[in-house]
Amino acid sequence: MTAATTVTKILRPAALRASGVHVHSSKLPSELAKSASAYLSSASSSGNKAILPDLPYDYNALEPIISTETMTLHHTKHHNAYVTNLNVSLEKLDTAVSTGDVSSIISLQGALKFNGGGHLNHSLFWENLCPKGTIDFPSSGPLKEAIEARFGNVENMKKELSAMSVGVQGSGWGWLGYDVKTGHIEPATCPNQDPLHATTGLIPLLGIDVWEHAYYVDYRNVRPNYVNAIWDVIDWKKVEERLVAAVAK
Ligand SMILES: [Fe+2]
Repeated sequence: MTAATTVTKILRPAALRASGVHVHSSKLPSELAKSASAYLSSASSSGNKAILPDLPYDYNALEPIISTETMTLHHTKHHNAYVTNLNVSLEKLDTAVSTGDVSSIISLQGALKFNGGGHLNHSLFWENLCPKGTIDFPSSGPLKEAIEARFGNVENMKKELSAMSVGVQGSGWGWLGYDVKTGHIEPATCPNQDPLHATTGLIPLLGIDVWEHAYYVDYRNVRPNYVNAIWDVIDWKKVEERLVAAVAK
């Protein structure tokens, strides 16, 4: 699944389908409708529930940059918790929307943003990693051209995004995103589990999880060492695929 399809996939819970009610309904405040749609879109179209995706590699595949222990805990415990809690919130939202209970819909926004964002962010994150030394930065093509247009060269991009990611206060994410308005790649950060596209409009190409759960086992509290090391396990082919899909939107 590409970033674009992940972002745009729309889930319509059973009650919404049965009632014909859309979260874009003019009966709901526009920002509320927008955010509800965004969070619903992070869920899987398989049934009406979000599902924990399989990793595209083994848990030990990113050694020694990211340990088997970190990958196992991160995927089976942390990401799985976001999925579980998102599904609980989606069930409540389904009921609230179908009954027109705007107060309950509003009260669910925090949980939906956090758990929906957590599910979406991690689903993107796993796919933009690969075993060390298997996929090099491309020597030509659209990704190289876009990065050189914005940053001069890939090393400058790494430095800028690394510094921004290390500088995230508390927990959050560093991102490389595509701005459809300008046609440029841009670095960005998001706090907590705020999803990049839903909160900034940028289409995510590459994410760096800087929550401590992503690196504490391997790097303890030294976030800069983790961020500097993660460049060795980036799947540049996936990043370029996302860029091509974003440009085509
Ligand atoms: Fe994480």
